Amino acid sequence: MTQQAQEQIRSEHDVPGPRGLRPGMLRDLQADTPNFLAGLRDRYGPIVRVPLGPTTIYLVSDPVAINDVLISSAPHFDSDIIGKGSNREAPLTRLLGRGLLTSTGEHHKKQRKLLQPLFHRQRVAGYADTFAELAAQRSATWSDGQRLDVLVEMVELTLAVVTRTIFDVDLDSDVTRTVRTALPKNDGPLRWAMSPGGSLLVRLPLPSNLRFQRGRRALDAVVHRMVQERRRTGVVGEDLLSMLIAARDADTGEPMSDQQIRDEVLTLLMAGHDTTANGLAWTFHLLGSNPRAAELLAAEVDEVLGDRLPTFADLPRLAWTKAVFSEALRIYPPVWTVARRALTEYTVLGYRLPVDATVMMSSWVVHRDPRWWPDPERFAPQRWVPSAPDGSTDNLTGTALDRDRPRFSYFPFGGGPRQCIGNEFALLEAVMALATIAQRWRFEPVPGHRVAPRAKIIVRPRGGLPMTVRARS
Ligand code: HEM
Repeated sequence: MTQQAQEQIRSEHDVPGPRGLRPGMLRDLQADTPNFLAGLRDRYGPIVRVPLGPTTIYLVSDPVAINDVLISSAPHFDSDIIGKGSNREAPLTRLLGRGLLTSTGEHHKKQRKLLQPLFHRQRVAGYADTFAELAAQRSATWSDGQRLDVLVEMVELTLAVVTRTIFDVDLDSDVTRTVRTALPKNDGPLRWAMSPGGSLLVRLPLPSNLRFQRGRRALDAVVHRMVQERRRTGVVGEDLLSMLIAARDADTGEPMSDQQIRDEVLTLLMAGHDTTANGLAWTFHLLGSNPRAAELLAAEVDEVLGDRLPTFADLPRLAWTKAVFSEALRIYPPVWTVARRALTEYTVLGYRLPVDATVMMSSWVVHRDPRWWPDPERFAPQRWVPSAPDGSTDNLTGTALDRDRPRFSYFPFGGGPRQCIGNEFALLEAVMALATIAQRWRFEPVPGHRVAPRAKIIVRPRGGLPMTVRARS
């Protein structure tokens, strides 16, 4: 590096940002963290130093810098921002064990390699019919004019989906019942995963911790029983559990231990349902307040599908359906932020950050940058297609397809070695569910009900999402 370039590198103390959080700011931060951070980005720029009591985070909102943290410099970062690697167990690890989401270093690399084939596009394509059938079954329980909590409906649907794809069991089986009662609603103790006191909080004998541990024991017993059964009978299927049992390490040929299989199953159950459920719930909320987008969706599924359920082969012709979901993930990315801890000193955007610095990259914030997302708050699926299904265009049409748009101007699934492994799974599941539901139903907002986001690990509609379901005539 030249002397001049070195001189231009400033210390972490020079990073712009508020010097301390006044009580009013703390209130705003707690009430609506994503928009609070978006406000800081607007005010201070692509890197902001945010002092949060004992911790400081660096909010990085520049797509090229995000690419560097998540991909080019990934080996210099750890995803465990709380546990600091050594003496303190991260809260998520205590709750979920050492599955893919919570493992780090070599263990993560090894597990990722073992699990990756289970989520290849071709493999996931085989689940398309299941996704559509389960959406049809759930929506068949609705009646015209009924007031529903759309979030609850979507959680039930996505839970049925992960349970079926992992265990290949019926909806009325005891396995499904155990999964439904064992998993926490609204994050449970997972809500503390990113807070500095989280390591302590998850150890206290609080009711939500005890409930979570009870649920975990019940699930462990179910998974243990199913693994034993499959090993004894030798019957293997196409479900994820069978594939986890059959997976072998490419170098050593070793299978996973029973404990590891249990940790991976719990991780997939947790990571694989609430995320997609909230993504779908936000989609119906946005469609409810954008009747034109909803009409185009209805027109597309009528034309492509008529009365039959969608299949994988229909995907290329369900472009508007896919655009609707992509746009919903832009405005309400369920996993609204990813964070990394620097393992070495790290220079980003001209500032040298210290070892252990927490770098936060928020899709919520970046997805609202008007440089790539003109009129960012507007729900406009036409950004994602060359023209709407009725051939219409406007000034936003196709803007997301611009080849010059940087990769990390849109990252609802993260990126790099820890990119969401369920990315293809979630997109296919959502498109199949949306197309199936839109064939028969539409959702109307409830007058007077204000929908507001609440963000912990996942951005969910605060207090649920009441809507009125209407049968399409
Ligand atoms: C719309 C739905 C989903 C969204 C928005 C989403 C988002 C994300 C994001 C942003 C990450 C990266 C976190 C990080 O870098 O720190 C992630 C990781 C992960 N997701 Fe998803 N996800 C979704 C659905 C799913 C599904 C359906 C599954 C499984 C069936 C799944 C399983 C996982 C796992 C196991 C990881 C950890 C990967 C690793 O660290 O190697 N996700 N997800």
